[in-house]
Amino acid sequence: MRLHEYYFDNMTRHPADVGTGKLYNAFGDAYGGFQEWKADFISVSGMRGVGWVIAYYALHNEQITKHWIDDHENGHLAGCVPVLVLDLWEHAFIGDYKPAERGKYVEAFFANVDWKACEARLL
Ligand SMILES: [Fe+2]
Repeated sequence: MRLHEYYFDNMTRHPADVGTGKLYNAFGDAYGGFQEWKADFISVSGMRGVGWVIAYYALHNEQITKHWIDDHENGHLAGCVPVLVLDLWEHAFIGDYKPAERGKYVEAFFANVDWKACEARLL
């Protein structure tokens, strides 16, 4: 259930741009830029199956990384802090989208990310 807490806490009804702070720089350091990181994250969200896409902040090298997680409790990396959590179980979007419209859900998710909450997870 902890992933749902991260998921709901990293969304807002009053979204704003990612800004130019520590999180923005962390995306750039790891992926060459925010848009490059976002494209990579979205590409993972297109994987077949249900699960989670999580952008982690790895404490050992202070880098953003991302991973597909099948279950709530398995596969998390030690020493990594979840920064952005996207629920890709069908129950997360089936009320608003058809199963084949998962990309539209991901697009709507990104339109409602609370970047300040995500950045606070780095600090
Ligand atoms: Fe869920």
